[in-house]
Amino acid sequence: MGKHYCKVCGYESLRWLGKCPTCGEWNSLIEEVELPSFGFPSLPSSHPVPLQEISSSEKDRVLTKIGEFDRVLGGGVVLGSIILIGGDPGIGKSTLLLQVGDALSKSLGKVLYVSGEESAPQVKLRADRLGIESPCFYILPETNMQYIISTIEEIEPHALIIDSIQTIYMPKILSSPGSVSQVRECTAKLVSLAKGKGIPIFIIGHVTKEGAIAGPKILEHMVDTVLYLEGEKYTSFRLLRAVKNRFGETREIGIFEMRDFGLEEVLNPSSFFLRECPTNVSGSVVTASLQGTRPVLVEIQVLVTETRFGIPKRETVGVDYNRVNLLIAVLEKRVGLHLSSCDLFVNVAGGVRVLEPDIDLAITVAISSNFKDKIVDGDLAILGEVGLLGEVRSVSYIDKRIREIEKLGFRGCVIPKNNLEGLNSNKSFKKIGVSTVKEALESLSIL
Ligand code: TYD
Ligand code: MG
Repeated sequence: MGKHYCKVCGYESLRWLGKCPTCGEWNSLIEEVELPSFGFPSLPSSHPVPLQEISSSEKDRVLTKIGEFDRVLGGGVVLGSIILIGGDPGIGKSTLLLQVGDALSKSLGKVLYVSGEESAPQVKLRADRLGIESPCFYILPETNMQYIISTIEEIEPHALIIDSIQTIYMPKILSSPGSVSQVRECTAKLVSLAKGKGIPIFIIGHVTKEGAIAGPKILEHMVDTVLYLEGEKYTSFRLLRAVKNRFGETREIGIFEMRDFGLEEVLNPSSFFLRECPTNVSGSVVTASLQGTRPVLVEIQVLVTETRFGIPKRETVGVDYNRVNLLIAVLEKRVGLHLSSCDLFVNVAGGVRVLEPDIDLAITVAISSNFKDKIVDGDLAILGEVGLLGEVRSVSYIDKRIREIEKLGFRGCVIPKNNLEGLNSNKSFKKIGVSTVKEALESLSIL
């Protein structure tokens, strides 16, 4: 008789339960035959060492030269670290790691790519498309962990990629690949390999429909770094985000575009997102959002139409739905726009998501612009958080954002009055300080 495991959180139970008592998920307990666990892998050097005598691992980093990838990792790949990469099927995980593997094989030497999902010719076909021709890049179509380990012993790679953790299995464990005990034990083995041999190991993980990496939560605790590759499948743009990183910040974001020849770094995200920005159309406003620590200009688009049926319809893509409803209420009450009989659609062009309140003013201006059918001056970008009283509140990192706006060739910006102080004075760049939404709309000749 085996134990029952919750496939969401890894909770163990002797008998089956309809609802997991830990995470509250229904029907998530599955039976697995328990074998003595190999336990959490021990780290090398198991005797105490004075902290001061330990050399810092900063120098043990290697750059992939894929700038966006290095940035998300906090400045390159740490040797001996284990990195989990999750994302929806078809989003580009295998593509990204083939490119990373190729890059690492040029700087580190042998790289082994274990493919549990595709045959060697299939991988080769894709590698040809990506222009990979490094002689040190090895492909192993295999799912049995034992063979994988013996191959590692034989060819001694300097980096390892596992595609994907849900397809590989330990023959000693009777449950099927992808089950909680398989995923846990295979990962434990990989962690001890990474630490023992001092090589970086990348693990691809599938994502459940709720958006978490399939398998027990402890999978994320066992690894050093967890990255998610995200994006809408119908747009070409992809975001690489760190949700956990023992060796760096988790605020950084990598931006890529999926092309015919693989993922390409987006070196100038602002011009990427504004490349199709129209001029002279009402309801379009440019603002500077913060993606990670980088300012990125995006275009907010709004369409306001008369409601055909009783209840007005409101839809948002890329911005917070509730926030937009709040801004509509502010426009109704503080500015006097009658939006209650209008359908309203808000979209951030290009498929990017911006959830910070610093773009509030841009959304309110875009709504008013389309409602009144007055065009917003295309040479201006708009920034500011909006409060319930209709006041415009200051935003963070104003200097950075303004620098980006200037760099993209805008001639000025509308910003919170409180942000005006202490700004560098570039005379040719107009800075219009406003303290209320109404003032902003008046200064843009919308009201
Ligand atoms: P893939 O890396 O297989 O996704 P995952 O491993 O996350 O499931 O990427 C699959 C998609 O990417 C597929 O729909 C085709 C597309 N693609 C390109 O557009 N260009 C390319 O060069 C490659 C290799 C894939
Ligand atoms: Mg894949």
